[in-house]
Amino acid sequence: MRILIIGSGGREHALAWKLGQRPDVTDVFVAPGNGGTAGMTVNVPVKDSDIPGLVALAKEKAVDLVVPGPELPLTLGVVDAMKEAGIPCFGPVAACARLEGSKSFAKEVMQAAGVPTAAAGVFTSRAEADAFAAAHGAPLVIKADGLAAGKGVIVAMTDEEVKAALDLMFEKSAFGDAANTVLIEEFLKGEEVSLLCFCDGKTALPLPSAQDHKAVFDGDKGPNTGGMGAYSPAPILPDDRLDSMADIVARPILAEMTRRGTPFTGILYAGLMMTEDGPKVLEYNVRFGDPECQPLLMRLKNDLADIMFACIEGRLDTVSLDIEKRSALGVVLTAAGYPGAYPKGMPISGIAEAEALEDVQVFQAGTREEHGQILANGGRVLCVTALGGDLKEAQQRAYKGMSRLSMDNSQFRRDIGLKGLKRLGLA
Ligand code: AMP
Ligand code: GLY
Repeated sequence: MRILIIGSGGREHALAWKLGQRPDVTDVFVAPGNGGTAGMTVNVPVKDSDIPGLVALAKEKAVDLVVPGPELPLTLGVVDAMKEAGIPCFGPVAACARLEGSKSFAKEVMQAAGVPTAAAGVFTSRAEADAFAAAHGAPLVIKADGLAAGKGVIVAMTDEEVKAALDLMFEKSAFGDAANTVLIEEFLKGEEVSLLCFCDGKTALPLPSAQDHKAVFDGDKGPNTGGMGAYSPAPILPDDRLDSMADIVARPILAEMTRRGTPFTGILYAGLMMTEDGPKVLEYNVRFGDPECQPLLMRLKNDLADIMFACIEGRLDTVSLDIEKRSALGVVLTAAGYPGAYPKGMPISGIAEAEALEDVQVFQAGTREEHGQILANGGRVLCVTALGGDLKEAQQRAYKGMSRLSMDNSQFRRDIGLKGLKRLGLA
């Protein structure tokens, strides 16, 4: 079997690591890939936004399965294009990827499907947005409608911050076309958790829960990033509640998308706020999260390609997930300065030493290989991920792995997993 993975992050390195374990896989191609995938697969320099280029590559390499990692190719219709070419591709068609690509569309679908979510107004005019903000008052959450690489959401705690956020969206065009439409949302309080489900249009099969850490600094301080670390399971959403949660936040969306004539296939990722009034959906992603994917795939014992084919062929009801009982936790190493400006090109050493530790994997993200040396090449550089008997042990192992690494101008959070440990009474 020949597989093409699209993307260049830690998630894609983890997908390559997992999919490559299947005995009949002969070739894995990653477009464009990173320093980590260079060592184990064939990187091909085709961009994740070049849909015709990706279809041509899939045909040329005669691949049996295409796995897009990030949202961009999905919203650009890579699944539609591969389908047209007769190539199995795991993910939602563009009409479904809008659940991530447009926050106003997601809100409308949630309301039609009866999924609990924050009350919101949708605006294309500054005057109407101002009037709504004045009527409701801070705290409010201001969101650019379109894709903004995780940066289009501003939690405004004061009226001044609300005004500054609306200035940024409407006047300064900080988010370009992504902010032609702006949502103003009720501020929700609670702990966040993620529920990812495999979907085949009819069936939603939940993976165990995961918790991301979006803020750059310890204690959830500082600006939001793509994700500084993640672990699974998150005690706030235990295994015995996964199915009932999927009934609330995933299955109604599948029914609604089918009703609209565009059944949802792929991963439906619900970002949840566990509020005093119950769970509410903050957002949908239509793919694996990065870095949630890394700990989740370390726990998944099934063959991943089998599940993906079951999703594509509409027979997910015959699959049951086989999940490692142990916990998994990943810590992201970034370049100093990220998510602002950051340096590149620093050599990274100690990856082999970290991976020599029991149940530790280093999934590379913003890296490239030059003459056998791995160099930093992005904001999020890698994610040290470990399995442990419980969350505490997984955390200890991941940080032990991190201690084997060295890179100038780097930073990482020291408190990944802390909320879970507190809930378990272990911290
Ligand atoms: P999103 O991309 O919509 O998930 O938003 C990014 C982050 O902003 C979330 O992970 C939350 O931390 C925060 N956020 C989004 N919506 C809300 C809300 N309605 N209330 C409080 N925090 C929110
Ligand atoms: N870690 C959150 C995301 O992938 O969007």
